[in-house]
Amino acid sequence: MSKYIIEGGKRLVGEVSISGAKNSVLPILAATVLNNNINTIFNVPEIIDLKVMIKILSAVGCKVNKLDDIVTVDSRTLDTVRIPEELVREMRSSIILMGAMLSRCQEVEVSYPGGCEIGPRPIDFHLKALKELGAEIEESHGFIYCKGKNLKGADIQLDYPSVGATENIMLASIKAKGTTIIRNAAKEPEIIDLQNYLNAMGCKIYGAGTSIIRIDGVNHLNSVEHTIIPDRIVAGTYMIASGITGGEIVLKNIEVDHIQSIIAKLREAGCLIYNNCTNLKIIGPKRVTPIESLQTIPYPGFPTDMQAQIMSLLTIANGTSIITETIFENRFKHVPELVRMGANIKTVGNVAIVKGVKELTGAKVTAKDLRGGASLLLSGLAAKGTTIIENIYHMDRGYEKLEENFTLIGAKIDRFD
Ligand code: EPZ
Repeated sequence: MSKYIIEGGKRLVGEVSISGAKNSVLPILAATVLNNNINTIFNVPEIIDLKVMIKILSAVGCKVNKLDDIVTVDSRTLDTVRIPEELVREMRSSIILMGAMLSRCQEVEVSYPGGCEIGPRPIDFHLKALKELGAEIEESHGFIYCKGKNLKGADIQLDYPSVGATENIMLASIKAKGTTIIRNAAKEPEIIDLQNYLNAMGCKIYGAGTSIIRIDGVNHLNSVEHTIIPDRIVAGTYMIASGITGGEIVLKNIEVDHIQSIIAKLREAGCLIYNNCTNLKIIGPKRVTPIESLQTIPYPGFPTDMQAQIMSLLTIANGTSIITETIFENRFKHVPELVRMGANIKTVGNVAIVKGVKELTGAKVTAKDLRGGASLLLSGLAAKGTTIIENIYHMDRGYEKLEENFTLIGAKIDRFD
């Protein structure tokens, strides 16, 4: 199994250019099946989840090429409605293809994605909404068979602002007859990026970024070129690397608008942050200030995908912080690993009480999921001594060139495959 070996205690100084957003490129790649045409996507991150999505698009017959951070998808050769089961299991977010395949082929066969490390990850909101659009859905033997010859626009109220469900409804309704309204829609920047991509393709979608999104059904779609927005979670992760090592890091190619909740919390923790729209400098404090109360909530609140990383920062604060995870049921798997490094954390249900300690100590730890793995890397950068992180394939799913980028700003980190 791949692992990182990190010599901690180095102050990180330098510049990092932030890659394209994982959670934007995945739904946008799914959307390339829609237009039966050529799609060119720029600023694509070099991550495992992207490779899996490219494998899926090739498996359903699309011609996919990747050159550096540019991916072209020719969806004129799509030749099946069956999404390969093993690939859906490899990446549960491929369920997003359901809506796009329904629009393109009026049917789709996909295996149940199942849960993952952070929770059961149900898709009931997705299926309920597709039925409201007129899709016939049969679930058996772990597969979902979905048919929708003449989907009709519907007024859909989401019980929860689910990112994936919002995206799937947008993709399923773009050719439906009439207008679809999504109420209580997710407002994440990745939803706006998907709307911009789809509208460039000829769709008529309005309101992404607000809780009400309107989709007017269209018939004709054209080829499209699009640049993916920067990854706000990758940006936040590098910001915390500066905070936890008392460093001074400049981030380039970011969208500051997308990380306002992260900036606010890191200022509360004592970081100095200077920024313009696309670049940011963050200077870590001598000693981290505790954050009395931090809750993960849907955008524009503090993102659940940053919970593990900010917990690492708060383990060395000069006081106690309380973190409440309100989005996922099982997103504290990094806690026992941080405790092995000397952190003082108690969890009660979805609340973590983080009592700051003066210093973490290097240890052998195991990544249990993508963002939990990132939190262990951050702690290893600050800890006294050597930290060995196993199962780092979790981090390869969502972070590109981690060891290269961190080495360039002064970290001592080696990868062993
Ligand atoms: C997206 O997951 C992201 N993944 C997640 O990022 C992110 O944490 C999450 O949104 C929340 O922001 C991608 O975009 C690929 P949800 P998604 O539907 O769409 C429950 C990362 O680390 N729910 O907004 O699956 C669900 O169980 C990943 O990059 C239902 O109950 O998230 C969860 O508790 C992790 N029924 C909550 O809603 C449903 O039908 C939010 O889920 C759908 C969701």
